[in-house]
Amino acid sequence: MKVGIDKLGFYTPETYIDMTELANARGEDPAKYLIGIGQRKQAIAPVTQDVVTMAANAATKILTPADKQSIKMVLFGTESGVDNSKATAVYLQTLLGLSADVRAVEIKQACYGATAGVQMACDYVRSHPTASVLVIGADIARYGLNTPGEVTQGAGAVAMLIKADPDLIELEAESVFHSADVMDFWRPLYRSEALVDGHYSNNVYIDFFNQTWQEFQNRTDTNISDFDAFLFHLPYTKMGLKALRTITSDDQHSQDLLTEFEAAKKFNAEVGNIYTGSLYLSLISWLVNSQTLASGNHVGFFSFGSGAQGEFFAGNVGPSTQLQNLKMQMEASLNQRRQISIKEYEAMFEARRPFEAGDYAFDLSEEKAQFYLKGQQNHQLL
Ligand code: HMG
Repeated sequence: MKVGIDKLGFYTPETYIDMTELANARGEDPAKYLIGIGQRKQAIAPVTQDVVTMAANAATKILTPADKQSIKMVLFGTESGVDNSKATAVYLQTLLGLSADVRAVEIKQACYGATAGVQMACDYVRSHPTASVLVIGADIARYGLNTPGEVTQGAGAVAMLIKADPDLIELEAESVFHSADVMDFWRPLYRSEALVDGHYSNNVYIDFFNQTWQEFQNRTDTNISDFDAFLFHLPYTKMGLKALRTITSDDQHSQDLLTEFEAAKKFNAEVGNIYTGSLYLSLISWLVNSQTLASGNHVGFFSFGSGAQGEFFAGNVGPSTQLQNLKMQMEASLNQRRQISIKEYEAMFEARRPFEAGDYAFDLSEEKAQFYLKGQQNHQLL
């Protein structure tokens, strides 16, 4: 039975900053941010968007009434959730009007959480072929103003419908995972910004990629020539390029893979790191921007979450009848955004600190999304 990603929905907030302006404000050479890091723009989330509303805005773009009926699980990958106890998936179930006959949970392992969801969803569908699963990767990446990580922030959500006979990507059952307890990136409970040992985190990422890719080749008796594209978790786009370069050489096939990577990084360079959703935003980017995409293309995926967990898995492009819809969805998401100044961004960044106890209502005059946060009352988000 074929199982995998049938539909992809994406949402990113309507405001962004330009990386040349950020570089100038921080006294850095813009080429460092644009080329050295590989980012062009960064999505900035207003207080009226959190991971739940972003996920609802992404999912609502793809789910038909029939899809909603078939969903038996909602698996919400995030590392920037809204409650220490209640799962984001339960809020989402209500916002989307899903049935009560659903298993709704949140999954946390840094940027890896959505991949855990995708793999569990595929296993579930293999044993329940008429069911489908909604998997979310949604996050707001925050390192802090004037930190080395600032250029790698971002915000957004990817919603995936996992089912039998998928339209977009059929995922193979074999995958290789690797876990080790390392302190490359973490966020203590009392902080709203991540702490990171940046250069060490890059090394851990490369090491996990090389280990899982090597083991995948051993187990499946494949090599680089069996793949039409490699997709990566992209904390910043240069990171994926660095990983890809560890396995490519000067031959034509390697050059083709680098061309496909250009297509796969395009949207991530416009949005920034969305943690759990980043690998799947790169998948959307590749599907929409590749010049050579064809049904049956074999694609490798490297998922990574600091702390750390890595996984290499593979899939094949399906009939892709919805590509035109996906293209239109992305054009609408990325082209209708509004650039804000670095000053405005800094004010929005400070306004996002963990909410204080108390009742308050947000200014909604700039909010255009279907789902948004209105404020807080009686210790509950509205
Ligand atoms: P940094 O120290 O500011 O930058 O931190 P750098 O000095 O390393 O320079 C970056 C690149 O720009 C280098 O290229 C420079 O040569 C180049 P590289 O050698 O790496 O290829 N450069 C220039 N290029 C052109 N013109 C110039 C110029 N100047 C310099 N004038 C760092 C960079 C990424 C470490 C920092 O931004 C950071 O800490 N980011 C956050 C951590 C991160 O993204 N880690 C990635 C791996 S971990 C991961 O993926 C998991 C994660 O998503 C979290 C999760 O799982 O939840 C982060």
